[in-house]
Amino acid sequence: MKKTYNIAIDGPAGAGKSTIAKKVAARLGFIYVDTGAMYRAMALYFLEKGIEPENEAAIKAACQDISIRIAYEEGVQQVYLNGSNVSGKIRTEAVGNMASAVSTYRAVREKLLQLQRELAAGEDVIMDGRDIGTCVLPDADTKIYLTAASRVRAERRYKELTEKGIPCDLEEIEQDIIERDHRDMTREIAPLKQAEDAVLVDTSHMTIEEVADRIIQIVSERRTGDGV
Ligand code: DC
Repeated sequence: MKKTYNIAIDGPAGAGKSTIAKKVAARLGFIYVDTGAMYRAMALYFLEKGIEPENEAAIKAACQDISIRIAYEEGVQQVYLNGSNVSGKIRTEAVGNMASAVSTYRAVREKLLQLQRELAAGEDVIMDGRDIGTCVLPDADTKIYLTAASRVRAERRYKELTEKGIPCDLEEIEQDIIERDHRDMTREIAPLKQAEDAVLVDTSHMTIEEVADRIIQIVSERRTGDGV
């Protein structure tokens, strides 16, 4: 079987991973795999069941009742939680924070690891998350660590919410981002960190197009170097 080409993009919340990964996937004809959405779907289940994020035993037990499935409908990733498409329900701050909290548990991570690896083995993918280059796909062909200053990330989020007419506070958003970074970077299992062989791209002063161009350039340099 032909080996698939895998691109891993890791980085903190709000660095622009999903926006960029979608663009790069479209330009290269790759599948975009959003692993955060899988953690969010699990978080949604725990929230709906009223399980507290601190209750590891209950979360571990509940993991056995969860089935996550990924489908691509018109090229867009859809997440199914126990047979229902939950893609439209997982983008809230509450679900994001719950996902960050419960993703510290081994039972939650183990549930998703196999699924993520299977997707990458079957297709050319660009996969984003926190531990893709370090843990999920340690042999990925290209690894990118995408980051930006916390203030810049907060400003982007603020603009996004304000445009949707959702009232919000910039300071609060930045505080939330700092806390989420801390939790994602200091957890014991598969913490967010730059893989040794990842290329660092700081998007603080770059446009979306510039970042996408930079990543395509990194990928083509690698592919030429590897004779792909
Ligand atoms: O990228 P996101 O905001 O949708 O991710 C939500 C949370 O899920 C994030 O704060 C940490 C967790 N996550 C993870 O632990 N590992 C991943 N590969 C992706 C997300």
